[in-house]
Amino acid sequence: MRKKLKAVIFDLDGVLTDTASYHYKGWKRLADELNIPFDEKANENLKGIDRMGSLNKILESSKCIYSYEEKLALCDKKNRYYQEYIKGITEKDLLIGVNKVLIDLKEKEIKIGLASVSKNAFSVVEKLMIVDYFDYIADANKILKGKPDPEIFMTCAEGLGVKIEECLGIEDAAAGVTAIKRAGMIAVGIGNKGILQEADVVLESLEAFDINEMIERFF
Ligand code: BG6
Ligand code: MG
Repeated sequence: MRKKLKAVIFDLDGVLTDTASYHYKGWKRLADELNIPFDEKANENLKGIDRMGSLNKILESSKCIYSYEEKLALCDKKNRYYQEYIKGITEKDLLIGVNKVLIDLKEKEIKIGLASVSKNAFSVVEKLMIVDYFDYIADANKILKGKPDPEIFMTCAEGLGVKIEECLGIEDAAAGVTAIKRAGMIAVGIGNKGILQEADVVLESLEAFDINEMIERFF
């Protein structure tokens, strides 16, 4: 029997809005203060990784040793910078194609989930004025293992009340695509084919996402 597409699960940062660049700005500001080399290339490995995981990766290039308490304080500092940058987000900051995809999914009665490890995710989605589209938003505070672990995508499928094989996940980060594939879902990558090699298909943006084509190809 053919499987059926019942849910699409979205990552947030870099998929629905360009907050990935604000995360980078926040980490860059912190790294500069700590005199740690950090650039966009290094940032690519941080995409989709939770806050403490990201800091630990940045500190790999530091000569200093930080205690857990010091690391918590650094995470808080980066988060304050990030919150400063996202203050002015509105529905105008939705990336191209997002509105149409959300409307198409609702029309087709396909459930919509959010699987972001960002603890700021709910407030960003509220600012973007798209909360009502979501049937389930995974709570990043309750996720024990960040991406590339599949936990958040599996939790989301469970929250939506659908089977894993009935889901399609959308991600801009290599760690996120790995998480979707480890969960056993179809993975759509948004961005660079060279970076998102594990994805079943890579699109430049959600503007190129056609739900009928996805169903034809994968379900
Ligand atoms: C992910 C981003 O969505 O959330 C990462 O891709 C970020 O860059 C992570 O570090 C955690 O976000 P936050 O808001 O909890 O610090
Ligand atoms: Mg992302």
